Amino acid sequence: MKKALDEGDHRRRFLRLLATSPLLGLSGLSWLESEVEWRQALDSFAQSEEIITSPEQALNVMEFEAVARQKLPPAHFGYLATGVTDDGTLRANREGFAKYQLRVRRLRDVQKIDLSVRLFGTTWDSPIILAPVGSQKAFHPDGEITVAKAARAKGHHKILSTHASSSVEAVNEALGAPTWFQLYPTDDWTVTRGLTKRVEAAGCPVLVLTVDSQGGSLRETFARFRRTDLRQCTDCHVGGFTYNAMIRRRPMFQGLELSKVTTQLPLNLNWDIVKRLKDLTPMKLVIKGLATREDAELAVEHGADGVIVSNHGGRAEDSRRGTIECLPEVVAGVQGKIPVLIDGGFRRGTDIFKALALGAQAVCIGRPYLWGLAAFGQAGVEAVLTLLRRELTIDMRQAGTASIAQITREYLLEQ
Ligand SMILES: Cc1cc2nc3c(=O)[nH]c(=O)nc-3n(C[C@H](O)[C@H](O)[C@H](O)COP(=O)(O)O)c2cc1C
Repeated sequence: MKKALDEGDHRRRFLRLLATSPLLGLSGLSWLESEVEWRQALDSFAQSEEIITSPEQALNVMEFEAVARQKLPPAHFGYLATGVTDDGTLRANREGFAKYQLRVRRLRDVQKIDLSVRLFGTTWDSPIILAPVGSQKAFHPDGEITVAKAARAKGHHKILSTHASSSVEAVNEALGAPTWFQLYPTDDWTVTRGLTKRVEAAGCPVLVLTVDSQGGSLRETFARFRRTDLRQCTDCHVGGFTYNAMIRRRPMFQGLELSKVTTQLPLNLNWDIVKRLKDLTPMKLVIKGLATREDAELAVEHGADGVIVSNHGGRAEDSRRGTIECLPEVVAGVQGKIPVLIDGGFRRGTDIFKALALGAQAVCIGRPYLWGLAAFGQAGVEAVLTLLRRELTIDMRQAGTASIAQITREYLLEQ
């Protein structure tokens, strides 16, 4: 049944209309490029409920979440949305950004904004990278391939998960370049070696070792959504839900002897793994999931080539500490010797600006592109990337910073 529009709905629709209107005269900022597109959006806008019905209607990346929730089966949406226990760390990731405000400068030439960054010898069009996420066919029939096509179309880089539902070779082809590969080592070194040598042969320049979920996690939101899903899960999850059964269905594990594998990150794993991997492969090694100065120092000592500040999007530990709050001590720990990247709760251009100002070289996003993928496929992922880049560009103009290198600590105030 169609619900009556309240004042907030009308205001929301009006703002959306303004944002899409070429009459607004924000040259270079207008979301829709041609009058035809604008009229089509107006038509669908007039027909839409509160939830957007096409990517062009979105004012920000959060608007894709409601569509994803509407389209996905409950268990899959729960897998996407969940944090740990009552989602305290998930919320902390968002709340952490409020501790910083922007100190904006005036009368700077901001006509040309350069978003490019250089990482491990390659220049990228923007500092926004698509984080590794497993099982993307749970969100769209072509999962990782669709995401790779969107990343390619928009000039963004991505990291492929060990648990991807497409192979590294297929993703590289769709991306038009070798992806970075995220590694869960498992508890069998022959499998670690097999995965590493396969992605090395596929040309992947960077291996991203995830270390944040060694302790296990209690994902209550996932369990709650799953309870409401009445489908027969074993129709697709053939073999059941043990780790061993799951990886047997994953393309990256095909051809490997898996009988001894029981877990993605063994409980007794320690810093020796870094040296072992460095000895195994010439790929750059980035450690994903650090949160403290001490571990940042250890990463440098053990020869890591980079680190990612991350708590797995609030899905790893119950620390209730946002990654943006961890970033300054990790930056201090590496002392400029290796690049620091970060993820967790990035939804706005200002979030990205703040991380760059605190010393991150790049920012990874997870859920926003998955919402776009589930909502509208490739067009949804592209729209998410366009929105984030557009916001960052405007924020940089407003602050008077024309390039990423110009975004420094002096542009932030800490409350
Ligand atoms: C559904 C889902 C699956 C994920 N799978 C992986 C994975 O396979 N490997 C990994 O290193 N991180 C994984 N992550 C964590 C992301 O790489 C990233 O750290 C996180 O999503 C960033 O937070 P955000 O979602 O708030 O942007 C996953 C996250 C989500 C939401």
